[in-house]
Amino acid sequence: MRVAVVAHRASETNVSLAARAWNGRPVELVSPREALLTLRPGDIALARLDVREDLAGAEEGLTILERLADAGVQVLNPPPALLRAHDKLLTARTLRRAGLPHPRTSIVERHAKLPDLDFPAVLKPRFGSWGRDVYLCRNRVELERKVGQLALRPWFRSGGAIAQELIPPLGHDLRVIVARGEVVGAAVRTAPPGEWRTNAALGATVSPTTPAPVAVSLAKAAASASGLDLVGIDLLPTGPGAFCVLELNGAVDFRPLYASPGRDVYADALSALAGSMEAVALDSAAADAG
Ligand SMILES: Nc1ncnc2c1ncn2[C@@H]1O[C@H](COP(=O)(O)OP(=O)(O)O)[C@@H](O)[C@H]1O
Ligand SMILES: [Mg+2]
Repeated sequence: MRVAVVAHRASETNVSLAARAWNGRPVELVSPREALLTLRPGDIALARLDVREDLAGAEEGLTILERLADAGVQVLNPPPALLRAHDKLLTARTLRRAGLPHPRTSIVERHAKLPDLDFPAVLKPRFGSWGRDVYLCRNRVELERKVGQLALRPWFRSGGAIAQELIPPLGHDLRVIVARGEVVGAAVRTAPPGEWRTNAALGATVSPTTPAPVAVSLAKAAASASGLDLVGIDLLPTGPGAFCVLELNGAVDFRPLYASPGRDVYADALSALAGSMEAVALDSAAADAG
């Protein structure tokens, strides 16, 4: 049996996952095309397709993942779940249906009437990442101006933008890494002075933390609603001991400092995934025998 991380990028997270073992087996880092050529029924593909660099949708390869699954490869982070994370409109629907706290969200499309919103509001790409093109609009005039400025961006033309209620920024958020229902890591991301967005790509400081039980249960509930096997849940603090779920990250980046004390977060993520898959295999073997 082969195990592969399927991705286009040799990011720190992808390379680190591929450097760990899956139940003693080596893990490869392959592109979707390589996966299609080399993986066989019973092999395992951990899908780590991200959003495109230009934010105009998900990276290519979702159809290849479907074909792998049809061919009997066990695809973790299956395409519908990846889309639920990458498409912020689907994320909002998913979290609302699961009854989880999430800022009120609407879609802004070209040539369509702007939705009714409360201000201040956040305007951002529907398939965004790295905090790119995420703007604060204090009122409707600012929103209209920003929409006018962004209307020709490839991402605006293809997917539209998301307008979202602003959760009053406290300068930090909490990212929790969940692998098959288990929290394997977490970190606090603190925005630099003068910045309200908490993305590491925008200079946030990332520091280790042990999440409070309320954050752990919210992250687990969001992970379960997402259908993703390995996911990063971003929680925005809304007051003492209270959070809302801001994002589901389907190709989440995390560093060694996300680990629980004395642990290796990449190894723990793979063991959580491998352990629960073995439990599923044992259950179905027991069912077959009975
Ligand atoms: N509705 C919101 N309320 C408060 N802060 C927000 C909101 N939306 C985004 N932010 C801030 O902007 C950052 C980037 O937004 P996010 O939706 O996570 O997009 P991206 O996919 O680019 O990371 C978040 O980490 C958060 O700090
Ligand atoms: Mg984010």
